Amino acid sequence: MIFVKPHGKILIAAGKEKSARNDICEALRCKDSIAKVFLKKGIVPEAFFIKENDFKDPARLKKKILSKNPFCIFNLFEGFSEDPQKEVTFVKLLESVNIPFTGNSCFTLSACLDKMKAKSILQKNNLPVARSILVKSAKNIAIKKGLTFPLFIKPCSEDASVGIYKDSLAYNKEELIVAIKKRLKRFCEGVVIEEFLPGKEYSVALLGNDSYEVLGISEIDYSKYEKFLPFLTYDAKWESRTAEYRAILPDYEPKISKTLRKNIIDLSGKAARALACRGYFRVDLRQKAGNLFIMDINPNPDINTDSGYMKLAYNRGYTYEEIIDRIVQLSDCH
Ligand SMILES: Nc1ncnc2c1ncn2[C@@H]1O[C@H](COP(=O)(O)OP(=O)(O)O)[C@@H](O)[C@H]1O
Ligand SMILES: [Mg+2]
Repeated sequence: MIFVKPHGKILIAAGKEKSARNDICEALRCKDSIAKVFLKKGIVPEAFFIKENDFKDPARLKKKILSKNPFCIFNLFEGFSEDPQKEVTFVKLLESVNIPFTGNSCFTLSACLDKMKAKSILQKNNLPVARSILVKSAKNIAIKKGLTFPLFIKPCSEDASVGIYKDSLAYNKEELIVAIKKRLKRFCEGVVIEEFLPGKEYSVALLGNDSYEVLGISEIDYSKYEKFLPFLTYDAKWESRTAEYRAILPDYEPKISKTLRKNIIDLSGKAARALACRGYFRVDLRQKAGNLFIMDINPNPDINTDSGYMKLAYNRGYTYEEIIDRIVQLSDCH
């Protein structure tokens, strides 16, 4: 079904800041791709840029949105490079204006932007996650009994592999302390120290509100890339000039057994439900000793034309326009 609302205007919300970071620029490129879809349908897309200053006066920001009177807000705002939490603040505001908006709710975005909170929700739902602790201060770092090396260090409140570098994998306490101290200087919300999951990495693209459609599963088998680190660093994900970016390519049609496919789909659906995901989202999992663990839930992931999410949708036979339509149909006032 094609979404037609010829007399309405759609607002495409995206952040505007002076950052050359690739993950930040990608959101703006995505805005252009989505605007093209609406133009083709004869629906007027209006870019709605969100700047850091806007949050100094939320009432004014709310008024500005209301004055545009759109039939829907396509929300591509992911916060700012130095303040990802603003993604949550913005959606909270959207929830108060009573205009349908695309993607996930304030609850989901806020829980998923706090990796420890997301993990505790998953654990309460009896879903498998790697053992971990949160470290907020470089003083008296106590490694909980039962947490075994190698350990992985990642910022608690970031996404898109921000803060994931070579030293994210520590084989002993010395390496761990150095990496933690370095991270804490940049990520004041704290760092998660997690048992390393060395196996294959899966990413499941899902679509839907109450019942979820699985668009597909991609796989990264790090054992194929012995020259590179066995995890997705920021460079491998975003920096096209690096060898790892060019070499480490997810397989969008992996050959996996029926049982494994069923387990991956079952776990990712349960995880997304536990976090009340809506609209479009991805769930990342990794294996250890043949067992699957949920690693990360990504509400509102990149949906540009060449994103991993869209590649899986294309494989399933969808066009870009169809998925964007569907995302608008799934929009809600929350
Ligand atoms: N416990 C872990 N074991 C192995 N690899 C991990 C672990 N946690 C994260 N990674 C690696 O780091 C990447 C980014 O971590 P993730 O938890 O997905 O955070 P985000 O994508 O939000 O930055 C993953 O794609 C994966 O390659
Ligand atoms: Mg991830």
